[in-house]
Amino acid sequence: MNDIREAPIGVFDSGVGGLTVVREIMRQIPQERIVYFGDTARVPYGTKSQDTVIRYSRQIVRFLKTRNVKAIVIACNTASAYALETLQKELDLPIIGVVKPGARVAAQETTGGNIGVIGTEGTVGSHIYRDYIKSLRPEVQVFEKACPLFVSLAEEGWWKDPITEAVAWRYLQEMKDRRVDTLILGCTHYPLLRSTVRKVMGEEVNLVNPAYQTAISLRELLRAEQMENQGHNKKEENPYEFFVSDSAERFKTFANSILPFDITSTRQIQIEEF
Ligand code: DGL
Repeated sequence: MNDIREAPIGVFDSGVGGLTVVREIMRQIPQERIVYFGDTARVPYGTKSQDTVIRYSRQIVRFLKTRNVKAIVIACNTASAYALETLQKELDLPIIGVVKPGARVAAQETTGGNIGVIGTEGTVGSHIYRDYIKSLRPEVQVFEKACPLFVSLAEEGWWKDPITEAVAWRYLQEMKDRRVDTLILGCTHYPLLRSTVRKVMGEEVNLVNPAYQTAISLRELLRAEQMENQGHNKKEENPYEFFVSDSAERFKTFANSILPFDITSTRQIQIEEF
């Protein structure tokens, strides 16, 4: 491929959660090609150390570079919290995460100045959302809560299950008591549980899905770098490729329940080799 504008965007996550970001990129910049990697053999990242997540992320970036991507989106809050800064220093390609776009929108939209952040242990423990929001608006209060079971419930497909609702009540009661007016879904798996979170938090709370803002940031970045694809809609080619580190079949079924159309190409690779 000679024209860099026609190269794909590399997107990665620890598993299927990043598909909520892919869905937004497909909606907002449909002319872009995507190469997605889901580290399904090594999920979850949320309970792993920063060193491990950086090591995994470096391997994935090396793999994505073999697919000639023009830019990378870390569609995982944990990897964004732990590895984005390191990768930005090391890489000769533009790379963005999901945290800053989500934090920025919450800081803008809060009406009562009480923002809640839910995410993995890693993301919450890094305080990356709190620190960034406070750098933008020091007067705002930020409450953080790790909700680790949400990842398994989302991967299990129990998006609207009574068990998920019971777990959500247990995790989110604290956010209700704090009267948060804006709640950041700070893990890319959580938008799958959005209706359950909505039910527990109530209609008046603003739920922020950072994926939406991330797709906007990506579009702005591509424009600034003059890398926007002029259109891939040639019928003979498949603009979306998916790679995983564990069973491709399981991933494919899951992806087809999330994405707006069925995906055809999913391949399993040995990520440790990169
Ligand atoms: N999707 C990942 C995130 O946004 C979390 C899942 C995991 O723990 O691997 O943080």
